[in-house]
Amino acid sequence: MNSLFRKKSIEKIVADSEAGLNDGHGGGHSLNKVLGVKDLTFMGIAAVIGAGIFSTIGTAAYNGGPGISILFIITAVTCGFSALCYAEFASRIPIAGSAYTYAYVSFGEIVAWIIGWALILEYAIGNIVVAISWSGYFNNLLQGLGIHLPDWLVNDSFSVEALVDEANKATAAHQPLTETMNAAIAAWNSAPVLFGKHLFMNVPAFGIVVLITILAYIGIKESKKTTNAMVVFKIIVIILIIIIGSFFVKTSNWHPFMPNGFGGVLAGVSAVFYAYIGFDAISTTAEECKNPQKDLPRGMIYSLIICTVLYILIALILTGMVNYSELKVNDPLAYVFEKIHLSWIGYIISVSAVIATTSVMLVFQLGQPRIWMSMSRDGLLPKKFSEVHPKFQTPAFATIITGVLVGVPSLFLPSSLMTDLTSIGTLFAFVLVCFGVLVLPRLTHAKKSAFRLPYINGKWILPVSSVLIVAGFQNRILSAITQMGTEGFQEILFLVFILTLIIVAVLAFLRSYSVIPIVGAMSCLYLLTEIPAISWLWFFIWMGLGLLIYNFYGKKNSKLKLS
Ligand code: ALA
Repeated sequence: MNSLFRKKSIEKIVADSEAGLNDGHGGGHSLNKVLGVKDLTFMGIAAVIGAGIFSTIGTAAYNGGPGISILFIITAVTCGFSALCYAEFASRIPIAGSAYTYAYVSFGEIVAWIIGWALILEYAIGNIVVAISWSGYFNNLLQGLGIHLPDWLVNDSFSVEALVDEANKATAAHQPLTETMNAAIAAWNSAPVLFGKHLFMNVPAFGIVVLITILAYIGIKESKKTTNAMVVFKIIVIILIIIIGSFFVKTSNWHPFMPNGFGGVLAGVSAVFYAYIGFDAISTTAEECKNPQKDLPRGMIYSLIICTVLYILIALILTGMVNYSELKVNDPLAYVFEKIHLSWIGYIISVSAVIATTSVMLVFQLGQPRIWMSMSRDGLLPKKFSEVHPKFQTPAFATIITGVLVGVPSLFLPSSLMTDLTSIGTLFAFVLVCFGVLVLPRLTHAKKSAFRLPYINGKWILPVSSVLIVAGFQNRILSAITQMGTEGFQEILFLVFILTLIIVAVLAFLRSYSVIPIVGAMSCLYLLTEIPAISWLWFFIWMGLGLLIYNFYGKKNSKLKLS
């Protein structure tokens, strides 16, 4: 049991990463230290602004009305708290493993492994989702240019088949078919049939993964230049949207501010959270930073602040230009400009959506191999994963495996389930990073220059706020207890959250915990309770697989065991 929770000291982790460069498993090569604070801020923005603001914000605005701008503020604050915790870790442990390495220091090996395994959901599985939505935007652009790729080359069979089934049911019930259903039937009938199966492949999604993998393989410098260019473009477009859009805002559209109450606003939580994911990814480039201690915390915080300001303005402009009830579309930003007959702006927005999602993919595609590299250095994955390319100075093998793991599923799978899995993986990492800060050893004098999370004593604040929260949720708690059998999993999750809240409040009182990490962790835990049961089932299956691999490989080969 003890061996499962064996921990690494910060000093050992840093020494190991340096020694790794000499003992062969780093191939004698280090990563290329080229990133400064500006690059890190740009990389943060690159990873954050993507499908979330260009697409999923539509449904959130439809449910919440103009009030979603408040949700963008609330989510920014909770992400900001997690970002500060990440910043403290990144500054003290400037190693590519991100939350995985931080957990190794705070909670020990098994938790580190679990978090490393969960991060595959954020980065690799998350990138499958991004690749699929990239393909959607790209295909729209092509169609705008009059180029129509065959349907079977831009779709997956599961999504088309599900729509065809819906169409069959609608026909049986004598209901009219929607445009999407008719399109799906046409796609189904025109697809080639192989061994009795209709063949569908999302070729653009696969293609972009190949291109991005090549870029990530060739070098961090090249990736940095490409990222910077893409970020400049997307920020210019977003500022353009805000400025031009502001001339078309009708303030009457802002009333009522919360048409479906605060509940309607909260329905968009997961979409809005998704829009903020990514600032944490830059911590995986710690070993490529010129001055990680100083620059990483700044890069994360600056990028989060810039994105928050842009997001709030976009939310206000979007819901000010048209009535919120019209926003349930896949491309809300392009839609509102087409509505006011400025289709050319709509077209620029579509180009920008393609570029924005490309930059998100690039940063995530850089993050995954670097986490594997750290896990491999610790002996939890085979040595091959930490091999650094002699010429390109990138974790070459791990980069290729990431490409395969993202590319092949993006050819055949639908994205719906994987979005939730991405959120679970990310939230899980955030929760552990926030709690992890609480158990970090105190700084020695020599390292006082590292970034420190501001300490706000939570001895009273946290228990009092917890009592207020429990009182506010009183009705929901009572109904969850009485309906636990019938309502099932979601209610149990909610009760687990309340129980955790109470335990944490008591501990905070006894140990005077700092407010920021606790609020960060508890808000992420709350978001986790919103994720549906089916996604949790897949999550547990994924984790079970991870634990099996740990049991048969990592546990025996861990450097801590051998040393
Ligand atoms: N935040 C990223 C996006 O919205 C994941 O695409």
